Amino acid sequence: MVEIRPFQPYDLPGMYRVCLQTGDSGKDATALYRDPDLLAHIYAGPYPVADPGLSFVAVDQQGVLGYIIATADTVAFEHWTEEHWWPGLRARYPLSMAADPGDGTQDWWCVERIHHARPTPDELYDRFPAHLHIDVLPRGQGAGLGRRLMKTLLEALRVRQVPGVHLGVGEGNTGAFAFYQAMGFSVLRPDTWGSTMALSILDV
Ligand SMILES: CC(C)(COP(=O)(O)OP(=O)(O)OC[C@H]1O[C@@H](n2cnc3c(N)ncnc32)[C@H](O)[C@@H]1OP(=O)(O)O)[C@@H](O)C(=O)NCCC(=O)NCCS
Repeated sequence: MVEIRPFQPYDLPGMYRVCLQTGDSGKDATALYRDPDLLAHIYAGPYPVADPGLSFVAVDQQGVLGYIIATADTVAFEHWTEEHWWPGLRARYPLSMAADPGDGTQDWWCVERIHHARPTPDELYDRFPAHLHIDVLPRGQGAGLGRRLMKTLLEALRVRQVPGVHLGVGEGNTGAFAFYQAMGFSVLRPDTWGSTMALSILDV
């Protein structure tokens, strides 16, 4: 029995684990990081802290099985992270840690991202101001949980009258790409790293 419910602060450690265990184009990224928190500091942590109302978790008896997290306003979120989220992490992970040790670990890349966050291109903001991340552990995949999480978030965004949502999906993550297509997203812009996809919420 899997329950989907709004985020509670005590979900954060479980969400960090899910982020890491799905963080290599949908596969387990544990072996890629010396610091198991780094990836989630970028892709999971700031969302429920900035706006807990747009984070939902799927939980079973073993704990957090998956989540969907979002911001309704990407521009405001990027300002918030600059003011409240990145400064502490920049002190914790100095730029000197952004050198690639050449052993395949990816911590250096995350440290680089923490110091040089990449703003979302302006042209996305008007129609698709929200953005999201969704991750479900393998034991919960393929059973309609992703669809339930997406429906829950889209309803919350609709209540706030957010017109659209965008996301990024890596080139190698064909399963997630197919999932987003099944959820009604279409490719807005192909990129070297993958695709930006988007969905108009008020039309759905
Ligand atoms: C992508 C993900 C969120 C999908 O969640 P899920 O619970 O497995 O998906 P669902 O069972 O709700 O599937 C919903 C629909 O998406 C499609 N779909 C989902 N996964 C798919 C896959 N791997 N290949 C093809 N289609 C897929 C199916 O068509 C399904 O349609 P149906 O309901 O008609 O059967 C989940 O697999 C996941 O977290 N993967 C690892 C992390 C990840 O890659 N996150 C995205 C990073 S960009």
